[in-house]
Amino acid sequence: MSPVRTPDSATAPARTGVWAAPGRVNLIGEHTDYNDGFVLPIALPQAARATVRPRADRTLRLYSEQGDGRTVELDIDALSPGGVDGWARYPAAVVWALREAGCAIGGADVHIDSDVPTGAGLSSSAAIECVVAAAYNDLHDLGLTRKELARIAQRAENAFVGVPCGIMDQMASVCARQGEALFLDTRDLSARHVPVDLEGAGLRLLVIDTQVKHDLADGEYAKLRAGCERASALLGLPALRDLTPDRLPAALDRLPAELRPLVRHVVSENARVEQAAALLHEGYLHALGPILTSGHASLRDDFGVSCPETDLAVEAAVDAGALGARMTGGGFGGSVIALVAADRAPTVTTAVETAFRQAAYTAPRAFTAVPSSGARRIV
Ligand code: GLA
Repeated sequence: MSPVRTPDSATAPARTGVWAAPGRVNLIGEHTDYNDGFVLPIALPQAARATVRPRADRTLRLYSEQGDGRTVELDIDALSPGGVDGWARYPAAVVWALREAGCAIGGADVHIDSDVPTGAGLSSSAAIECVVAAAYNDLHDLGLTRKELARIAQRAENAFVGVPCGIMDQMASVCARQGEALFLDTRDLSARHVPVDLEGAGLRLLVIDTQVKHDLADGEYAKLRAGCERASALLGLPALRDLTPDRLPAALDRLPAELRPLVRHVVSENARVEQAAALLHEGYLHALGPILTSGHASLRDDFGVSCPETDLAVEAAVDAGALGARMTGGGFGGSVIALVAADRAPTVTTAVETAFRQAAYTAPRAFTAVPSSGARRIV
């Protein structure tokens, strides 16, 4: 490990450092991860950065540039689920999960600064969890693999924060690589990195934050997950991933009406991920467009997690010439991605902004996504 070169390196403990972990957008594969299915995210250049200075005691001192100005001071041995609120629960959750996993850890001063938009479906919380996990792993020589770090961060979110999320966001934040998408089988975490050379293909991936804040802790996500798990139990399957498209019609006949659309979405979405990964592997980026748009229709009509703003953004983008568009992330607001020819990007962005103005919605914020690196030490 290289020595720290910060302006105060003469006085700071030698192992103080700075780590970064990114947010993500998922190209396709929504609400498949907690069904043991497939996902295809890329990491964003926007990331959470954490400056971490180990302490000799068992105190965790947390400060966030995006917080409320408070420094939160916690005793590592007293951490328990539900005991911390606000932004501080994400870093605290990871330290708790490491402690629970039996890792030999100590206190730290943690300073967080993130440019991942919050509540935009871009995994700002996973970025914070993963950056703290990566920092602790290095500082305490825990020897955890990237997959183990993602599992720790997911456990932190599930058991400490209380959101029953799958593992896509944490795996993307830890394992993604620059210029590539992560084709992940969430059953066994086997992953393949597939090239996404947008520039070479003359394309852009726009991210349009609708500014409709989503909050996965509000219970809707948990209800959907429970519905999927009930359906797989009724079908006698380990998970909905085990239902293949050819057996879908017969399976639907055996389910209560309210569960059928959920199952239809998960089965068709898994097929879309496999198809998209195969196209990317062959370098056919343009062909991804219709898969994105049909994925959105499935989330809107079957899974029921879109909202008027995401629907309008998708419709306006496609009408203005995007090759395809869809909401990304958990839904209930958040962001839309649109795959566009590079020279159409300004037209598509303007079309979405105009449609939002006409509908009297809050102005959306658009930026271009560039597939970036997963968690890493930067100083
Ligand atoms: C959120 C969760 C993920 C995943 C997506 C939907 O981002 O954190 O685990 O379930 O929603 O695909």
